[in-house]
Amino acid sequence: MTLQPTRDDRFSFGLWTFGWQAQDQFGGASRAPVDTVEAVHKLAELGAYGMTFHDDDLFAFESDDASRQREIDRLKQAMSDTGIVIPMVTTNLFGHPVFKDGGFTSNDRAVRRFALRKVLRNIDLAAELGAETFVMWGGREGSEYDAAKDIRAALARYREAVDLLSEYVLDKGYGLRFAIEPKPNEPRGDILLPTVGHALAFIETLEHPELVGLNPETGHEQMAGLNYTHAIAQALDAGKLFHIDLNGQRGIKFDQDLVFGHGDIQNAFSLVDLLEFGGADGGPAYHGPRHFDYKPSRTEDPEGVWESVSANMRMYLLLKERAAAFRADPEVKEALTAARVAELSQPTLAGGESYSDLLSDRSSYEDFDAGSYFDGKGFGFVRLQQLAMEHLLGAR
Ligand code: GCO
Ligand code: MN
Ligand code: MN
Repeated sequence: MTLQPTRDDRFSFGLWTFGWQAQDQFGGASRAPVDTVEAVHKLAELGAYGMTFHDDDLFAFESDDASRQREIDRLKQAMSDTGIVIPMVTTNLFGHPVFKDGGFTSNDRAVRRFALRKVLRNIDLAAELGAETFVMWGGREGSEYDAAKDIRAALARYREAVDLLSEYVLDKGYGLRFAIEPKPNEPRGDILLPTVGHALAFIETLEHPELVGLNPETGHEQMAGLNYTHAIAQALDAGKLFHIDLNGQRGIKFDQDLVFGHGDIQNAFSLVDLLEFGGADGGPAYHGPRHFDYKPSRTEDPEGVWESVSANMRMYLLLKERAAAFRADPEVKEALTAARVAELSQPTLAGGESYSDLLSDRSSYEDFDAGSYFDGKGFGFVRLQQLAMEHLLGAR
């Protein structure tokens, strides 16, 4: 396995990631803007296959039609010069002051109507550029104060918005699907649809649930103290892993957006193992873009920025290599068997067995020796974990 990324790895980056000028709550920009065309060329050179963007990343919020079109044309030219594709597009409903109380769920109805128009226009652009996924990250959809937001009404308006956008995509015959990106907080005190689980439940209430899936971000689940690999597994189980935002986070704190693998490395390891080898017959469980949504640290200059772009891809490939070695190790295979990991895939009832059959099976209850689990019948999970860590550390 090589650590040089190729287009087949399907690595993609948001224009707002390497393009972040490092302005934060405590200080202004520390880097110059990155030109879109130069960035597309640089991504191609480094081995990525795709780039994604918010409308406002490509052309400023109040651009007139001519300058908007100029930027779109420049991007299209760079795409055809390099082969870089645009697998995902998203709309900025959080940056401008008009969205201070959200877009789809602002208490101000005129703002909600404006937000819908902004998204509809951007959906046309996404379809024109051949994107397959349209991400919806509702960073400003939420509240700081409980009395200020009727949460049930907000969810109804969110639903109304997604239903309308779905209807539009169907009527236009676009090959686009939506992916909701959960996040627990930041910038709002509390954001609606804060975790993968909340978003999955919401999707089932929509008019066209088949058109709507998830774009879960590593750091966002971890900010809520949750296990990202579990979240991704549940999204896969629901058939809803439409897209993914990979990055690094260390514990429950502000959204760090570190390089993938530079946060919780163990969770990153299990995640790559799941994505690459968790499918049928040990193949990939996910076939979409491996999209990085990180921020190059404020300490980095332009050289450091592109270094960090490469670091994301290299971390992913290293973890893929480590996971493959873990799976191929005979001792690991033996430890997995001892830990009875595969036994969980065996249904609890035999084929055709009913509850009456179970009730009359004395071996399952009357004659079952629960006491033998005291001081015996361990699972050996720690040994398995130690083997995983040794592979992760390159010790095996
Ligand atoms: C964040 C989010 C965003 C979204 C982006 C795409 O925490 O800022 O992760 O980066 O992913 O807006 O919709
Ligand atoms: Mn984030
Ligand atoms: Mn994200």
